[in-house]
Amino acid sequence: MSLPKSAIIAILSLLSLGYAFAHKNHAHQKAEPIEVSALKTINSAYVRDVKPIFQKKCFDCHSDLTRYPWYSNLPGAKELIESDSQEAKRHLDFSSDFPFKGHGSPKEDLEEVLRSVESNEMPPFRYRILHRGSKVTPEEKTIIRAWAAESQKLLK
Ligand code: HEC
Repeated sequence: MSLPKSAIIAILSLLSLGYAFAHKNHAHQKAEPIEVSALKTINSAYVRDVKPIFQKKCFDCHSDLTRYPWYSNLPGAKELIESDSQEAKRHLDFSSDFPFKGHGSPKEDLEEVLRSVESNEMPPFRYRILHRGSKVTPEEKTIIRAWAAESQKLLK
């Protein structure tokens, strides 16, 4: 007995995506299978257009690549930065590109990223006042918006 090739591919893609749903689908309801090819397309556009923005404005907290600023020498500051980064990564970790690690599905992450950027909720105010130019600019928002919209279509 052998499974058809398409079934094997479908099973493999479900397995490799399982982690993306880790926390959300406790009941393991039928998660709709997501096309691996769609995720690849989304990731190439992410790496090309959006990642350079996130590297500058989000990676200090949402990745393993925290850069320590001048004020990290102040007493207690380093610990604060580290706990901020741990908390941020628990929600969303950009360290290994798209689909992001965290507790959301790829679709939910896209929605949340867009919402947080549009509302200027991210990067947080406490970060923006210490890091000049870290606010997401209107031009960058346009890029992120276009990428998120295109990605949502691909995940339909
Ligand atoms: C100073 C550290 C810091 C920076 C810089 C930062 N974030 Fe965050 N972010 C956090 C923390 C902490 C949380 C979790 C608590 C919260 O929601 O406020 C969070 C939560 C989020 C969430 C909600 C995730 C969820 O679904 O629960 C999104 C989306 C997000 N950040 C996107 C971004 C984006 C995009 C950038 C860059 C434009 C960014 N953040 C920059 C600290 C940061």
